[in-house]
Amino acid sequence: MSDIVIRDLRPSDVEEIARMAAAAWAPIHAFYREALGEELFAAIHPSGAPEEKAAQVRNACQPESGMQVLIAEEDGKIAGFVTFSADQSSRIGEIGNNAVHPDCQGRGVAGRMYREVFRRLKEMGMRFVTVNTGGDPAHAPARRAYEKAGFTIQLPSVRYYRSLEDI
Ligand SMILES: CC(C)(COP(=O)(O)OP(=O)(O)OC[C@H]1O[C@@H](n2cnc3c(N)ncnc32)[C@H](O)[C@@H]1OP(=O)(O)O)[C@@H](O)C(=O)NCCC(=O)NCCS
Repeated sequence: MSDIVIRDLRPSDVEEIARMAAAAWAPIHAFYREALGEELFAAIHPSGAPEEKAAQVRNACQPESGMQVLIAEEDGKIAGFVTFSADQSSRIGEIGNNAVHPDCQGRGVAGRMYREVFRRLKEMGMRFVTVNTGGDPAHAPARRAYEKAGFTIQLPSVRYYRSLEDI
């Protein structure tokens, strides 16, 4: 495998990882658009799903967000990013938005990022780490990557929608 380095975010990375997030989420957004239908999908994402995902990542990069961001570099190029936070009262850390560039997926880059997050959270006094993800087919790679990283205690949930047109 090529050389992967996990490092802290630099201000010059922000736009690149925002674009990467929009690209990495494209298959998930396509699945949701199909599953929910165009009207509901558009109602959930009034500013556009890729734009909203990019904005979430930009926000996480702001110091006041309370999030930290790490970058995976493969052969000197950005291959992925992970956002995370630490709750000092519960001492539970949480992984937030994270992605690996579509060209770099399936080679364990995410696992390397998660391990560095675990190490840092432990250094910050956290006792557990959690992550929330979809149970849908489009999130299968994410679930697999989390399980490979040792996330084994699960609490599944289901989100329902219903049209109110017939009421
Ligand atoms: C989730 C994500 C970060 C994982 O990155 P990655 O570096 O490719 O992850 P890894 O290589 O460590 O592991 C991915 C695993 O998913 C598997 N996988 C890929 N597609 C799959 C599918 N359709 N069904 C089941 N498993 C799948 C891969 O084979 C690999 O497992 P393996 O090593 O046992 O073969 C990346 O897929 C991504 O950016 N996805 C889009 C954004 C996203 O879902 N982010 C997380 C939101 S909660």
